[in-house]
Amino acid sequence: MSEAAAEAARAERPAKSSAFHELEVHSVKHYTDTLFSFRVSRPETFRFRAGEFVMIGLEGEKKPILRAYSVASPTWDEELEFYSIKVPGGALTSRLKNIQPGDRVLMGKKPTGTLVTDALRPGRRLYLLSTGTGVAPFASLIREPDVYEYYDEVVLTHTCRTHAELAYSEELVERTKNDPLVGEEAAKQLVYFNSVTREEGARTGRVTDLIRSGALFEEIGGKPLDPEHDRVMICGSEAMLKELKEMCLERDFIEGSNAKPGDMVIEKAFVGEGV
Ligand code: FAD
Ligand code: A2P
Repeated sequence: MSEAAAEAARAERPAKSSAFHELEVHSVKHYTDTLFSFRVSRPETFRFRAGEFVMIGLEGEKKPILRAYSVASPTWDEELEFYSIKVPGGALTSRLKNIQPGDRVLMGKKPTGTLVTDALRPGRRLYLLSTGTGVAPFASLIREPDVYEYYDEVVLTHTCRTHAELAYSEELVERTKNDPLVGEEAAKQLVYFNSVTREEGARTGRVTDLIRSGALFEEIGGKPLDPEHDRVMICGSEAMLKELKEMCLERDFIEGSNAKPGDMVIEKAFVGEGV
């Protein structure tokens, strides 16, 4: 191709710079065959609220391939962190899983979402209930100093099929309790409760079953869910959200939104049946 033809072809490509930030990958960590996290540069102009998601992607042949991703880092972090699934044959993640430091990823400019403290009324205990990659928005929230001012206690639950899939949240909680900014508060106020469903282990069972049986509250020294002082954020598969939302509604929790704060908020960790 001649110089002029190459220039013309470049000019025809859809404009990317205005719609997206181009971020440099700083580090990548693989946890299992299906899970990894990565950290990227943060544009100075990028502001978000803990718990929000943003579009993340890679350049495609004709147009960028973009998917929703929760920001997993706190708002004060100089970098941005994301926690990702690797879907076999997935349009984005079959390529994203191969990123290396120095590579570039695209990020949309408008963060959004309902898993934010603005969408909840004040309360005493905040439950963050997650399965799989649904822990990502909570990875941001548990490192946010405000959260420990708003709530006396923050209970993070994470349920996965296997122990190996809990590695990210185990490491995250350890890091949070040793963090210079929020470590002291987290050590006193953050409770981490994990379980697995397809392996034998110290704690087994779906979070729904552990709530119904009372095992969760017995272990953390609390009373059953009560909208008078408990607030709940839920992130997981559609089936998990549906079941937990129903359980909360039965207990008279009111769903909140950015426009009208309530007692609980929910958000899909992904759309579809899961891998
Ligand atoms: P897709 O074509 O998007 O997905 C193919 C199939 O894989 C889906 O139909 C579903 O069955 C399954 N799948 C997709 N994502 C997941 C997942 N996370 N866990 C289990 N099964 C899945 N994904 C993340 O990895 N981290 C996040 O922080 C994250 N945040 C999200 C926030 C929101 C609000 C939404 C709606 C989705 C989020 N997702 C997240 C899912 C993400 O948008 C993509 O679906 C995922 O990156 C896979 O993209 P893909 O193109 O490879 O496959
Ligand atoms: P299970 O192994 O019994 O299906 P997935 O990887 O499919 O997204 O699942 C992540 C975790 O969420 C698994 O431990 C899974 O348990 C659990 N899970 C699936 N459906 C529900 C549901 N309706 N309520 C609570 N937990 C669920």
